Amino acid sequence: MLMLKFFGRKKEAKTSLVNKTLQNKAGHFHVLKVTDIKQETPDCVSVAFDLPDELVETYKYIPGQYLTFKKDFDGVEVRRSYSICSSPLEGELRVAIKQVEGGLFSTYANNELKVGDELEVMSPMGHFVAEPNAENKNTYVAIAAGSGITPVMSIVKSVLEVEPNSNVELIYGNRSSKSVIFKEELEDLKDKYLSRLEIHHVLSREDQGSDLLYGRIDNKKLDQFAEQFFRAKSVAGYFLCGPIDMINAAREVLESKGVDKKKIHYELFTSAGVADKVDHSKDQKTAEKIDSRVTVVLDGDETHMEMTSTGKTILDAALDAGADVPFACKGAVCCTCRAKVLEGSARMEMNYALMDDEVADGYILTCQSHPTSEKVVVSYDE
Ligand code: FES
Repeated sequence: MLMLKFFGRKKEAKTSLVNKTLQNKAGHFHVLKVTDIKQETPDCVSVAFDLPDELVETYKYIPGQYLTFKKDFDGVEVRRSYSICSSPLEGELRVAIKQVEGGLFSTYANNELKVGDELEVMSPMGHFVAEPNAENKNTYVAIAAGSGITPVMSIVKSVLEVEPNSNVELIYGNRSSKSVIFKEELEDLKDKYLSRLEIHHVLSREDQGSDLLYGRIDNKKLDQFAEQFFRAKSVAGYFLCGPIDMINAAREVLESKGVDKKKIHYELFTSAGVADKVDHSKDQKTAEKIDSRVTVVLDGDETHMEMTSTGKTILDAALDAGADVPFACKGAVCCTCRAKVLEGSARMEMNYALMDDEVADGYILTCQSHPTSEKVVVSYDE
């Protein structure tokens, strides 16, 4: 994931819903009431929430951010993160939730959730964001697959609205036209921004009469798109959201064309399968065992723990010690558990969320981190 700075200086927002700055502080849960549920596809709903006056400020968001939900299912707490699909300019807070097989929360949201129900929702988080500026005259390329369209939708709508001289190329992969989330809304956007928005639907199980648009979004197709529809190095920013294979393919192709890595912003929309693809057992076995005294700081409060470098993660140890530290996926993807090492050092098992410069600045995913020095201080407030 990706801290997105390429829009240059921040615009004083046209809307009351845009944060003035990216908030690094840990999110907190509040109870929000559902005001609307829209069936986007047979297995995807979008859900809008009411914001009481006292929470409007807390839930201001930047296009691309996500909300984390917490719900108890038969005594088991489940947390899931879903990207916000609305634009702050619409004055709405809405997420899209695609039902996944065996998914407790997504099945509940798609089948049982009703208008008027209340959910525990963490304030917006995430650094896969765009901060449009009316003075920009840019071309942006968004590449999404399946429900990866959700944060991209918020970004695309916001960019087109705020930047009258910018263009967007959207490459969007799905199985068939029936599974295209936001199909109508995308068509409306296309009508509204006829000369500034190009949408390329790539369908893996529906032949549209074009080889380029038939199949999965892979290296070959991305190479062709780049050759035909945009000048790769001139594009101001790329937004990639989808499964890891698609993101890896896009990064590979773009980097091979000389695109600056800093322009490539990406977010995995699922951790499913990611952990299976990486074997860290060797890292664990070879890591030297160090006894460590770890302090976590959250909202100015300190929690102290005795840990070992080969035991629990810092997040799990902090939760066991009673600290209400933020997390969602526990799979190195969502970034909710991000914190900064202020003293000592830590080792991450996996990282699909932090950018290189964040890691260099000392940020870690606490759900993946183990102490590697005798004293470690980690802050969620930085
Ligand atoms: S909880 Fe999602 S990256 Fe750690």
